Amino acid sequence: MVEIPEHLLKRSKSARERMTGQTPSKDDSSEVDESQSATPAAEIESPVEASTQESEKTIVVVEDAPYVNAAKTRNKIPWWAASALLCLPIWAIVYVGTLERPDVEATGVLQHGAEIYAQRCSSCHGANGGGGAGYKLNDGEVMITFPRIEDMAEWITKGSDGFGIGNSYGDPGRGRIVAGGMPAFGDVLNAEEIISVVLHERAVFGNSEDAVILATELDHIIEAGEMNLEMYFDAETVTSSEIAEIFEDTHNTTS
Ligand code: HEC
Repeated sequence: MVEIPEHLLKRSKSARERMTGQTPSKDDSSEVDESQSATPAAEIESPVEASTQESEKTIVVVEDAPYVNAAKTRNKIPWWAASALLCLPIWAIVYVGTLERPDVEATGVLQHGAEIYAQRCSSCHGANGGGGAGYKLNDGEVMITFPRIEDMAEWITKGSDGFGIGNSYGDPGRGRIVAGGMPAFGDVLNAEEIISVVLHERAVFGNSEDAVILATELDHIIEAGEMNLEMYFDAETVTSSEIAEIFEDTHNTTS
């Protein structure tokens, strides 16, 4: 370890005191005197040196750096622009809000159909139409059995018993034979509810664009009061062509 000689420590201490304007304590000055006598030449020079250094320091004119000058002289943002900038985030939020598409299904027949499916059909056909006690309906299966929407609505109205065990149902090419187990919904769901659940299954499980268009048309004319579907289909007598008339009316009214 290098030890700093004591007289150097004292010198730096007294120099510091001179620079900060403190008067050296008595002890120190006497000790400095002692060391002065020990090394006279060095000690006499040092106060002079220190004082010249001091005066040099005070003369130095501190000039601003170029970038500070630039900052001081450049044009400032006007106050009104600053407040306009502060309003930008609010404007942005409002603007983005207007871009969001309204949820078209929120109150429409497709939404209604999804609710009915969850309540009345999912227990047998699966929450997402994957099948169970009843056939799988998703992956387009439902469209293969029922290419025509009115046949599907008739099937759901009448159920297995309404068609009769051993009879065929759906598209002849599909070759479905009634085996039993599908309830009749004609007395439970009104026309609007049956059509809604049919449209939901075709749109969501069958990926049918026609079903989405028909649902949109129905929403329009039901809302406009031009069609009322609160009646019940008669499960004994209803025919698919009778149901088809509703969809024809829908097309004619909207186009
Ligand atoms: C209790 C169980 C059960 C419930 C609840 C049920 N189904 Fe079914 N579903 C079946 C059975 C079983 C079949 C086959 C019927 C047969 O072969 O006679 C079937 C057949 C079908 C088919 C024909 C599928 C095909 O490819 O052949 C459709 C479409 C269908 N159901 C729709 C519905 C809808 C819509 C609901 C709700 C409103 C519903 N089901 C409720 C059991 C059920």
